[in-house]
Amino acid sequence: MRLDVITIFPEYLEPLRHALLGKAIEKGILSVGVHNLRDWATDVHKSVDDTPYGGGPGMVMKPTVWGPALDDVCVGKSAGWQLDSAAPHVDKPRHDDLTGREFEGYVEPAEEDKPLLIVPTPAGKPFTQEMARRWSGEQHIVFACGRYEGIDQRVVDDAAHRYRVEEVSIGDYVLIGGEVAVLVIVEATTRLIPGVLGNASSHEDDSFSDGLLEGPSYTKPREWRGLAVPDVLFSGNHKLVEEWRREQSVKRTRERRPDLLEGLE
Ligand code: ADE
Repeated sequence: MRLDVITIFPEYLEPLRHALLGKAIEKGILSVGVHNLRDWATDVHKSVDDTPYGGGPGMVMKPTVWGPALDDVCVGKSAGWQLDSAAPHVDKPRHDDLTGREFEGYVEPAEEDKPLLIVPTPAGKPFTQEMARRWSGEQHIVFACGRYEGIDQRVVDDAAHRYRVEEVSIGDYVLIGGEVAVLVIVEATTRLIPGVLGNASSHEDDSFSDGLLEGPSYTKPREWRGLAVPDVLFSGNHKLVEEWRREQSVKRTRERRPDLLEGLE
């Protein structure tokens, strides 16, 4: 899988290169490009935002910077460009105002050939384990990190010509920008790619994978600070252990997330 992240804070994405994801990069399962949006800014101040039409607080990120950035990152992979660094791609052809050419319309790729563009926003659809499962089979995912009051809506509308676009939220709260949401989405998605987790079955019992929360786990010692591991786990009876785990899972889900039980039999 190829991941590209466009952000004004490339350092925020550094964790993508550590631990299991770093190993996946070394193994060639994953490749990651992090790009500084300011590399596509054209004025001396490298500005990426402007005041909102209609007034109001905050700033909105400019379409004239985001458009060329997304164009370059979209075709970069298939054109074999080196996108592993945050280097600017200013010598590459673009369709719009940076080259001074008139916009000539789009050549629309087939839907299945379009990379997936994920735009994290509190106004997006809720991110779920099911999305992570689906996206773990993608070839190329591009993330657009907004800051301030968000990105000019036309960026997303225009990108739909070259990308399959998903605007997603990681929860009902507002972050300062999309970077942390990208880390969350990438981690949840890439751990489901075969070969990323050491043990292939590690995620089979995950919370949410069967619609329930995962129950408690225990390891040695059998007794610790007066707390004993439940006897059933020493019974040697696999069926009994499975039944107990299922009960614990249902109990925990009923206590913590009764909403999840509503949709289940
Ligand atoms: N950007 C700011 N808040 C966010 C959220 N809750 N989810 C995704 N992206 C965001």
